[in-house]
Amino acid sequence: MRTPIMAANWKMQKTADETAAFLAGFLPLVETTADVEIVIAPPFTSLDRASQQLRNASVHLSAQNVSNEEKGAFTGEISVSMLQEFSCTYTIVGHSERRGLYGETDTLISQKAAMLLSHEILPIVCVGETLEEREADRTFDVLRTQLSGSLAGVPAERVPEIVIAYEPVWAIGTGKTATPEIAQEAHAFIRRELVASWGESGQQTRIQYGGSVKPENVFDLMKCPDIDGALVGGASLEPDSFSKIVHFEQQGGE
Ligand code: PGA
Repeated sequence: MRTPIMAANWKMQKTADETAAFLAGFLPLVETTADVEIVIAPPFTSLDRASQQLRNASVHLSAQNVSNEEKGAFTGEISVSMLQEFSCTYTIVGHSERRGLYGETDTLISQKAAMLLSHEILPIVCVGETLEEREADRTFDVLRTQLSGSLAGVPAERVPEIVIAYEPVWAIGTGKTATPEIAQEAHAFIRRELVASWGESGQQTRIQYGGSVKPENVFDLMKCPDIDGALVGGASLEPDSFSKIVHFEQQGGE
């Protein structure tokens, strides 16, 4: 009932030319893929080229960030109407690199999510604990605070449409994937929180796992009942590797 969603988060990697080369190699590999939603989140500067290349493809485009303001004197920012020009279906907000390196707060993330929804772009809202927080047994407290704060601006009726990405900070770019048990425990907690706050519609919200997802571990992660997809950094940069993640069902037994 929840369609799996596999998203590539390229971060500050790939020029527009490199994006075009990736898509030329990747699209034929996923041409006939059904029942999995595929999302590519390239840098802003690649959105124009990518949107042209994806015009007749079933792959969706995402940005990696957006301003919480409509327009005005905000040097260096990108507004939601600018993203609409490139037919972005999704936009990532609250990635741990934005939270950690650029000081983004739950309040700001919630404003960004609301801004996106009011312009018919769906937010992929990232949450996740640091290693220190996990070791101090604060994982669930952190997730509860991030969820309630980051989703404060999301109208209840839109909750089924948004995507949550659970990304434990200690697993991002480290090669240390959460075990399926650890990931499922956090996903089940997030699901319970969604249902507690927004009722049964929280059952429809897709929750992605992110943090060193690769072809070798995606099958076991996707078997977990509350893991509905993946947000993939490093392993999404090569067409072959990301297409294997998209085809997660074929990776079992490897
Ligand atoms: P990773 O990044 O797959 O390279 O760990 C995931 C992310 O930060 O979204």
